[in-house]
Amino acid sequence: MSGLAAALDPQGPGARAAADLWWLMLGLGTAVFVLFAGLLAFGLLRRRRSDPVVDDAAERRVVTRWIVLGGVVMPLLVIVVVFGATLQGMAATPMSAAAGALRIEVVGHQFWYEIHYPDQGVVTANELHLPVGREVELELTSDDVVHSFWVPALGGKLDMLPDHPNTLVLQADEPGEHRSQCAEFCGLQHARMGLVVVAEEPDDFDAWLAAEQDEPATAAANGRGAEVFDAAGCATCHAPPDSETGGDAPTLGDLADRRTLAAGMLPNNRENAADWIRDPQAIKPGVEMPSAALTDHEMDALLAYLGYAE
Ligand code: CUA
Repeated sequence: MSGLAAALDPQGPGARAAADLWWLMLGLGTAVFVLFAGLLAFGLLRRRRSDPVVDDAAERRVVTRWIVLGGVVMPLLVIVVVFGATLQGMAATPMSAAAGALRIEVVGHQFWYEIHYPDQGVVTANELHLPVGREVELELTSDDVVHSFWVPALGGKLDMLPDHPNTLVLQADEPGEHRSQCAEFCGLQHARMGLVVVAEEPDDFDAWLAAEQDEPATAAANGRGAEVFDAAGCATCHAPPDSETGGDAPTLGDLADRRTLAAGMLPNNRENAADWIRDPQAIKPGVEMPSAALTDHEMDALLAYLGYAE
């Protein structure tokens, strides 16, 4: 079920443990509900006796037994089973990956994700690539307020806090694309703080890393686009596309190759990129990016500079 945020269609061990626990709790909850609804119906439909007062000792013992069984023993049993399954699920979601695991740093911003592969010298935004069949250790932080990182198809959610890195270990079993959603209210565009997670075969992942490591050739060769980039004020927040650094705003070196624009909101193509640059506030009110009044010629030069083909 590619592209969906499907916690009940787990694609990795972390999400599978959470989904198994969910189904167990649903099953137990349903069984208890059906049992008690049945007893309630039985009690209501049973012909009433003329004298409802329980006075003989044998009947009192029956009532006490129902209360002890239904009110003490059964809840205790359910809680013990769920607790045991929870411990088992927690054991299946490790707090740190084995030595040599791929490390990725993810920094939350209002309202986008900055992504670093520190050992490979790669920085990108809003699109997280990982190889299948291998544990990945994510170090989660925030640049501003509290966000929460959650890829439902791959694992549980974990807060992204300023000044306190949290570690999340994820593994994808199959190639596919998964949607991630910020899960902690963080401002006006919290609901549209999305991330695309691309799980791919190790060869494809290595090819992606290699492409990321190459400096984009288009940017260096485009003087006019660089002028527009500076004149329109883009450089105030964004590092130029031929730089390999991150910054206050999403890195632009690989922008044209990403699947989405505006943190998972728009399909990435030339037309949407132009609309986004002209008036981001109309598309996503509250983002920090201001509008840029550009002529068509300036926009063409800028889009070429950013790597979009005509
Ligand atoms: Cu970031 Cu909600």
